[in-house]
Amino acid sequence: MEIVIVPDAAAQGELAAGAVADLLDRKPDALIGVATGSTPLPVYEALQRRRDRGLSLDRARICQLDEYVGLPVGHPESYREVVRREVLDRLGISDDRFMGPDGSAEDVVAACAAYEATLKNAGGVDFQLLGIGTDGHIGFNEPISSFASRTRVKTLTEQTRVDNARFFDSLDDVPQHVLTQGIGTIMEARHLVLLATGESKAEAVALAVEGPLAAIVPASVLQLHPHATVILDEAAASRLKLADYYRSTYRTKPSWQGI
Ligand code: PGA
Repeated sequence: MEIVIVPDAAAQGELAAGAVADLLDRKPDALIGVATGSTPLPVYEALQRRRDRGLSLDRARICQLDEYVGLPVGHPESYREVVRREVLDRLGISDDRFMGPDGSAEDVVAACAAYEATLKNAGGVDFQLLGIGTDGHIGFNEPISSFASRTRVKTLTEQTRVDNARFFDSLDDVPQHVLTQGIGTIMEARHLVLLATGESKAEAVALAVEGPLAAIVPASVLQLHPHATVILDEAAASRLKLADYYRSTYRTKPSWQGI
């Protein structure tokens, strides 16, 4: 795992956007997996600034990590709509270059299998942005999700519903169920970039990065990925035992030019 500690969310956004830009330079039709939530927003803002300065996203393809089950089509907090607002509209990416699981499908189990097939037919995910839950989840793979899991229906923990209640009128409005790429699905992306900011994520980050590989901390699976980068602000890095060591490798390792 590559651990990069940066001063703030803006620096985090610039670094991750730079990695996306480098990828698009090498592979203009790269499939970029985006994450929802607050943490990745500075990445999309930084990409928009790069686009204003000439970065071409004309062939870039975007895919979604997870989705609520049961929200009506077009609900502003459905992740399809969030991705449309925060990523597609901002970056001028048309619907035909966007793929996501259908949380409003009558048969959500079939929708999960269909999404797995869509990702496979698209050639797999090149770059996957990830947030981390305060409970250590990635995507909506809650604690004790199997490391081999594929896209499927999951039940949210109370903690995640409370964390996400800020996007809804009340806690009762937060769906109980979701579709999420499985951990096995996520692990097939060629480059994983996990972002975390703030003290509230510090414990989950420390467990994921320095703790044992454990299903109770789904993000710890990144320890097994051949190319995983974790970009943290100082607060999210505050419980890491080896933070100074990671800072020293960041300063000396030439590969950091493009994560
Ligand atoms: P957040 O969500 O970026 O809004 O903190 C992260 C997550 O739950 O994965």
